[in-house]
Amino acid sequence: MSDTLQHEDEAVAERQALAETIAREGGRVALGYFRDRSRLTVDRKTSGQDVVSVADKEVETLLRKRIAARFPEDGLLGEEYGLQDGTSGFRWVMDPIDGTSPFVFGIPAWCVSIAVMRGETIVAGVIYAPTTDELYSARRGGGATLNGRPIRVAETATLQTGVLGLGANHRVPSRVVSGAIERLLDEGGMFIRNGSGALMLAYVAAGRLAAYWEPHMNAWDCYAGFVLVEEAGGWIVDPSGWSALMDGGAVFAGSPGTRADLLRIAGAEAT
Ligand code: IPD
Ligand code: CA
Ligand code: CA
Repeated sequence: MSDTLQHEDEAVAERQALAETIAREGGRVALGYFRDRSRLTVDRKTSGQDVVSVADKEVETLLRKRIAARFPEDGLLGEEYGLQDGTSGFRWVMDPIDGTSPFVFGIPAWCVSIAVMRGETIVAGVIYAPTTDELYSARRGGGATLNGRPIRVAETATLQTGVLGLGANHRVPSRVVSGAIERLLDEGGMFIRNGSGALMLAYVAAGRLAAYWEPHMNAWDCYAGFVLVEEAGGWIVDPSGWSALMDGGAVFAGSPGTRADLLRIAGAEAT
């Protein structure tokens, strides 16, 4: 390996290690609020279903502070505090709490999600689920792990034999989702929605869910999950097809045997 390549690899590995450390640290802060929800103030964002809590803000502030202390020239994009450009070529894309709705209602399906990009490529992703103490981590070309053990997607799963993780929100017309659910059920498939798209993407990487689909997500919801799924042997529809990073787009990810069926059922064969 050339010196330059080795240096680039180390630069990514160092950021992956920091992402793991701060995902755990942020997760512990959020878990404190989750266990004592009387401390949790919740504000409405775009609708009664789209809310933010004091924990989301506190965790993102912590993540930003830790990253800036170690890599002050890296760019930052987080759900709560937006985009801050950097100069190093690296950008962190993070969701301090994915699954805020389950989080505020006391349902344990939520996580901290952190992706690292170099240029336009997602080079590392970490998802930490504090309630189960599960840390998912991947580096491009370096494989995917769950609490340090290698994970693989469910190699033989289909939509008929496995379960589809489904995401829904009010950013797209309801019939987009209802039509796909109808086709899925008619074809013998089944779905689950736990309220955390990032965590469901990690479940695809770990072989628990056969695939994941949501008609619209933002980069902070899914970038860490994308590299986890790819490094675990699965497929995604590349977000480079989105009109812009900040616009978000449709999310498809799965084990090999689900691709054709999922794209058809979701009405996206041309993708
Ligand atoms: C949401 C969750 C949800 C998905 C939404 C996301 P948030 O993120 O991932 O499962 O369906 O599209 O916005 O608001 O909990 O960070
Ligand atoms: Ca999210
Ligand atoms: Ca969030």
